[in-house]
Amino acid sequence: MRKPIVAGNWKMYKTRDEGIHFVYDVNDEVPDRNEIETIICAPAILLRCLTRRQGENLRIGAQNVHYAEEGAYTGEISPAMLASTGVTYCIIGHSERRQFNGETETDVNLKLKAALKHNIIPIVCVGETRDQMEHSDTDYILGLQVKLALKGITAEEIPNIIIAYEPIWAVGAKQSAPADLANAKCGFIRKIIAKTYNQEVANQIRILYGGSVNKTNYEELIHMENVDGALLGRASLDSDHFLTICQMTQKYLDELKEKNK
Ligand code: 13P
Repeated sequence: MRKPIVAGNWKMYKTRDEGIHFVYDVNDEVPDRNEIETIICAPAILLRCLTRRQGENLRIGAQNVHYAEEGAYTGEISPAMLASTGVTYCIIGHSERRQFNGETETDVNLKLKAALKHNIIPIVCVGETRDQMEHSDTDYILGLQVKLALKGITAEEIPNIIIAYEPIWAVGAKQSAPADLANAKCGFIRKIIAKTYNQEVANQIRILYGGSVNKTNYEELIHMENVDGALLGRASLDSDHFLTICQMTQKYLDELKEKNK
């Protein structure tokens, strides 16, 4: 059984005070970390202040990292700097960074390796545009993105990586992808991992769905066989909404444990 993940991506939202309030609000309410991983990926400037305040079960992640160890890269943050803030995770290759910051598949691959080297768990985002979906190119695009992101990664490293399937047409949209489609595409990504590596590591890697997930559509998504949790955008900004999704994950897990007894 794969451990579910509820991850929030705050994007460019929340000041220091707002971030601290959120963490204090959820610290004692999020599930046991041994059962469910609960993560908030915050703006870089808040990382240290949030890791200092994270409780026993909440973990903090970054939203980006540079791939170089150090250097003349004004405004960038190195993997060692990130690690020194105490973060556990880092989102890599989010579609907004690909779109607005010109991140390429090569950047994603280098960043993923840089994060792993510094013991930061990468959450690698992949997903197709609406145009690609409408031209039935989704599988081709996902195959390419996953293979290029993981270029040079060994089978042993795969379970330390999280993949988030975020169809660009569903990010910041009114509706999420239908649950069965999300499941099919997460399953397709798992198949690529099985083909590239082996079935055992494919069974271990966690694959999240992201794109307009909220407390109304999450129930169906989390029950999907290949969906191991969610990468939340807007639904992670409000502590009550975030906690509701954590509780729904706990309920799902408890049901599953009961069924497997
Ligand atoms: P929304 O949930 O706001 O659509 O954002 C999803 C996302 O981009 C998470 O990384």
